[in-house]
Amino acid sequence: MLLNGATAQTYNPLWVPPTLTGTTFSLSLNQTNKQFFAGKTTLTYAYNNNDFWGPTLIMNKGDKVQINLTNTLVDTTTTHWHGFHIPAIMDGGPHQTVPAGTTWSPSFTILNNAATYWYHPHLHEFTQQQLTRGAGGLIIIRDAEEAALALPRTYGVDDLPLVLTSRRFTTNGANANFVVTNSAYGDYLLANGTLNAQVSLPKQVVRLRILNAEIERSYNLGFSDNRTFHVIGTDGGLVEAPIAVTRVVLAVGERVELLLDLTADTVGATLDFKAYNSGQARDFPGGEPATSGPFGSLLNNTTFNLLHINVSAATANPITTRPAVLKTNSFWTANDVTRNRTVTITGGFPGSATPLFTFDNTSFSLGVFNQTVNLNEVEKWTISNTSGFSHSFHIHDIQFNLISRTGGLNAGVKNYEAGWKDTLFVAQNQSVSFLAKFDTFASYSNPFMYHCHFANHEDEGLMGQFLVVNNAVEDLAISSFTRTGTNNQIVLQFKATPGTTYTLQFSNDATTGSWVDIGSVTSDGTAVTFTETDPTRLAKARGFYRVALPKIWY
Ligand code: C2O
Ligand code: CU
Repeated sequence: MLLNGATAQTYNPLWVPPTLTGTTFSLSLNQTNKQFFAGKTTLTYAYNNNDFWGPTLIMNKGDKVQINLTNTLVDTTTTHWHGFHIPAIMDGGPHQTVPAGTTWSPSFTILNNAATYWYHPHLHEFTQQQLTRGAGGLIIIRDAEEAALALPRTYGVDDLPLVLTSRRFTTNGANANFVVTNSAYGDYLLANGTLNAQVSLPKQVVRLRILNAEIERSYNLGFSDNRTFHVIGTDGGLVEAPIAVTRVVLAVGERVELLLDLTADTVGATLDFKAYNSGQARDFPGGEPATSGPFGSLLNNTTFNLLHINVSAATANPITTRPAVLKTNSFWTANDVTRNRTVTITGGFPGSATPLFTFDNTSFSLGVFNQTVNLNEVEKWTISNTSGFSHSFHIHDIQFNLISRTGGLNAGVKNYEAGWKDTLFVAQNQSVSFLAKFDTFASYSNPFMYHCHFANHEDEGLMGQFLVVNNAVEDLAISSFTRTGTNNQIVLQFKATPGTTYTLQFSNDATTGSWVDIGSVTSDGTAVTFTETDPTRLAKARGFYRVALPKIWY
């Protein structure tokens, strides 16, 4: 049963998530509740005792950060740092489970550019449920290059975070619960978790950091007077110069940073930020005509309000102009590419032999590595969508640059997609290509994920795993091998570069066995010594060691 009649003409103040700063961040995922509708309680998940969603983490490029994430739910979770270039084992994907009542403490160095990222649960088969209940938060990375620009950056004043999603509710007595499955599209828009949100923005240039945190819906963003606004950032950094637009389509998982110029507006005037989703094709997620059912919604194929803006007086020292130039991005080119790879999105035809979405007709398995990439190679990936619907493709570890989008709905790379990205929209019968370098982090045992960011599609198995492996082992011959000491330890020595960290690997069989990382050593000289102390391996009649170069963990 839908909650009809809840379309208040009155507005609610936009909730702005609190911030956490520094290099140590404490997060605790909790179950709580919120009254979205007066007198009706909705069970929600949130981080740090908010009632929906979580605090915004502000991090600085170059800092080594530690996060202490405590799971106070009765269920397992994971928390993924979406868009971050970090070791796979720190990534918070489906392998880094955090059981109920435990704390996970990843730490890593921030290598990403200044931009807007986010964190969210990534537990295989439960991502939709945990996201729907409200678990998630934004991360703002700052860096020196961005800090040197005259851009608005007073959080919540002229630099506003805006998390867009929607929910379907069922009512039962005093409760209005989220429909957590069988609902791709919500009926009620939530801006930072607020229904019918309004905000006061000062009469100056303001920055909006927008995340599409939906399950499936895309937003065709624009302002009610059709004014021009400017895109300054994509998923993974600033674009080279502000890009003038009147509409921006934002798919699930994507972020965009906008400059909205209110200098010519009158104090007291109002403006609506809207999703111009009416008249969209069926391939546009949320363009379907149905108003109910699994793929219907009261918001489908309609134009609806995202945020009601009241123009208020300018702040002291307002930003009143746009920088003409933002930065120089060195994107990869076809000449850099050493490998082409195609990932095909298949299935998704209900009633056929392939009802579920898959990559390359292969069901997802946590134990299967679907792709192997060589460390430091620039690859061209083509995501070819032959499946029954459109998708939002996300890849962990890297930021890419889009080079082509052919066939299907709205072909072509949009001018406002000309920046570093980690998520892309691929319509049905469309192919999208990107270039990316897989550098810094390698492992023979910890994979990164790629998947559709529609949480329902991800949960049903539209996900794959890739390893980034370091094959530069040929110069790393082990020069001495001795067994010594009372428990017959093995001491290995090999040539080394000072300051470089080397990973030792072991296998039961040099040709047919799989190699497992057993440790890493950082060299302080021209040679490295590794001492094997593991009793299980020491007790073996036969075993093989090799050295891989270099895994930078922190
Ligand atoms: Cu935002 Cu693999 O996810
Ligand atoms: Cu999908």
